[in-house]
Amino acid sequence: MSEKKLWSGRFNQPTDAFVEAFTASVEFDRRLYRYDIQGSIAHATMLAESGILSKPELDTILSGLARIQARIEQGGFEWSVGLEDVHMNIESALTAEIGDAGKKLHTGRSRNDQVATDIRLWLRDEIETIRDAILRLQQALLESAEREAETIMPGFTHLQTAQPVTFGHHLMAWFEMLERDRERLADCNRRVNVMPLGAAALAGTTYPIDRRRTTELLGFDRPSENSLDAVSDRDFAIEFTAAGALIMMHLSRMSEELIIWSSAQFAFIELSDSFCTGSSIMPQKKNPDVPELIRGKSGRVFGHLMCLLTLMKGQPLAYNKDNQEDKEPLFDTVDNLKGSLKVFAEMVPTISCRRENMRQAALKGFATATDLADYLVRKGLPFRDAHAVVGKAVARCAEKGCDLPDLSLEELQSFSRVIEADVFRCLTLEGSIAARDHIGGTAPAQVRAAIARARARLEA
Ligand code: ARG
Repeated sequence: MSEKKLWSGRFNQPTDAFVEAFTASVEFDRRLYRYDIQGSIAHATMLAESGILSKPELDTILSGLARIQARIEQGGFEWSVGLEDVHMNIESALTAEIGDAGKKLHTGRSRNDQVATDIRLWLRDEIETIRDAILRLQQALLESAEREAETIMPGFTHLQTAQPVTFGHHLMAWFEMLERDRERLADCNRRVNVMPLGAAALAGTTYPIDRRRTTELLGFDRPSENSLDAVSDRDFAIEFTAAGALIMMHLSRMSEELIIWSSAQFAFIELSDSFCTGSSIMPQKKNPDVPELIRGKSGRVFGHLMCLLTLMKGQPLAYNKDNQEDKEPLFDTVDNLKGSLKVFAEMVPTISCRRENMRQAALKGFATATDLADYLVRKGLPFRDAHAVVGKAVARCAEKGCDLPDLSLEELQSFSRVIEADVFRCLTLEGSIAARDHIGGTAPAQVRAAIARARARLEA
């Protein structure tokens, strides 16, 4: 099965068959083929411009690489485990295709700077795709938030009814989490978009290369500053996975809320049939599988972050084969992020909101107790005293099995003489939310203003 290795010069014995398969990465890194070829095109072009390759050699290399890319894309390329990785598979196919000029492509380059370049080129594209996927989810949230800007629901702390909020306000909280995620990825990309080629194996190369030119050809922001660092640095992969872990943590929290809200006990929302599945034994079941699966998938992305940190922690400079283990966690992180964001964005517009149930829930649990305390403060009581007065009123309601607005004016006045008939306005759900009328508050007008600012931010 073994092809002749491109590095076999000093070896007398063939690689053990199991070791060959064990050390190979082509089964997964072939995914990088497009970026590997893109990097080779830039490298060869720079070599020719710098007089290291001749123009005819360059032309042969470029047309050979184009034919190889086409063959890969048409499924006619034969990947060989014996050739270890994507880099040597393509290089060896190039030499088979065009002869001696193919053997010159690797001049002034090592797989160490090559692989670092490939991953950066690949990740840069994936970051863009993921940022777009976040944006689409944010746009879906804005639409729903606008529709539900006046829909009242209980807001929770400790999952106990706290104060009334609007559903639109809640959805805008999700929007904000995702906005930070999008920013984090853009920031991470500043450290991804750095050009390692020229570092070669670790120390740089003896050829008169032009690193600024390869940087420009590949659209990187700048060449890396230190060759040892360039081939060994995987900080950018860890940072990306950390940003990915935060995204999954956010999606998982949102999923958890959707799961709770769609239960018969809450019944705040209904998920569309197309995002749920049934039970093979219980005919009545409609299970929120999609959010559950996303909540579950967060675990593997957190795992990948730990995996990459551990991968790097014991490595002396510069490149070590350990680094080959960076790809599978990265690929899986990207795939799960894209899948989860896509399905979430498609699910959000299909969520139907059971407004009356939300309202009824907000009417339980003394959601306007803080409003009563604030009312007493406006009438001159110190806040701590007001808190105590309302506590007593709540205890009375609990005894009677009613809510604060169900108490008569006389009953309320028995707790504090400052209470007057105007108290009932602040005890209503509408009065409570309308009163939180400042930037970031839940008043419907503020939610609409927040949506308008968010739209402007997305368009910026
Ligand atoms: N497949 C290797 C990787 O993923 C490519 C670099 C190999 N370099 C080396 N010196 N063995 O890291």
